[in-house]
Amino acid sequence: MVDQPARTDRVQRRWLVTGASRGIGHAIARLASERGDRVCLVGRSADVADIAATLGGDAIGISADVTCAEDLARLAGEIETRWGGLDVLVNNAGLHRGGTIDRVANEDWDATLATNLTGPMRLIRAMLPQIPAGGAVVNIGAVVGFRGFPGDSCYGASKAGLAGLTQVLAAELARRQVRVNMVVPGFVMTEMTATVSERARKTIVNRIPLQRMGQPEEIADVCWWVAGSTYMTGSVIFTDGGLMCNL
Ligand SMILES: NC(=O)c1ccc[n+]([C@@H]2O[C@H](COP(=O)([O-])OP(=O)(O)OC[C@H]3O[C@@H](n4cnc5c(N)ncnc54)[C@H](OP(=O)(O)O)[C@@H]3O)[C@@H](O)[C@H]2O)c1
Repeated sequence: MVDQPARTDRVQRRWLVTGASRGIGHAIARLASERGDRVCLVGRSADVADIAATLGGDAIGISADVTCAEDLARLAGEIETRWGGLDVLVNNAGLHRGGTIDRVANEDWDATLATNLTGPMRLIRAMLPQIPAGGAVVNIGAVVGFRGFPGDSCYGASKAGLAGLTQVLAAELARRQVRVNMVVPGFVMTEMTATVSERARKTIVNRIPLQRMGQPEEIADVCWWVAGSTYMTGSVIFTDGGLMCNL
């Protein structure tokens, strides 16, 4: 009989959220901070510390690029020094590059895979020694990792890979009582989707049963309870207004 780890959402947890300078990552970090947890916001821009300061509480910001091995080692070192451990790791930093297979640039393929797949794998590996039993990893996926959207080969492949990694690590890390799940946003209002043409936006929204785009806070809310649930691992939680049902 394996002991059930104590619920971790009743005590102050330590969160690291990548890509937290804006958009969905920022909403996740803000919600965790507002609910009393300690949060480390990560992004490439130097002002991520200032962004963290606006959250108040114990929030900190560390500038790091998830595609840079040295940055990840530094990040792990800083978390160990400041907090001595980590309870929730959210791999949210993401890059979208488009283009049909005949046109997609090799650099775009490499950058997308490095940010969306290799970065999370390396960060999980770097942080793992500091994540205790009861800890959680939440990976942020995308609907295109599960359905074929023309022109999304790099992004779709990277997110499908992240879904595979989620399931493998859920099985591997269960013996440590560390849970690994994936939250999959649908079409959410952020900088990433700001450049989508009005025509394309209407086409996508028409496909969404709830008939609207999502807000970052609606994704953050799901990440919060996924991080705190004690008997869920290896799961994929679609938070997409029903889009997956209608594709
Ligand atoms: N918006 C949507 O409709 C949607 C749908 C499905 C999935 N998602 C996923 O949700 C996640 C967040 O997306 P979003 O819409 O909030 O995007 P966003 O507004 O473009 O924000 C992306 C965040 O990632 C950070 N980032 C990018 N590359 C990074 C790197 N190499 N190292 C560290 N940080 C990096 C950015 O900060 P800096 O530029 O400061 O580094 C920024 O904070 C992504 O994984 C995305 O694929 C979004």
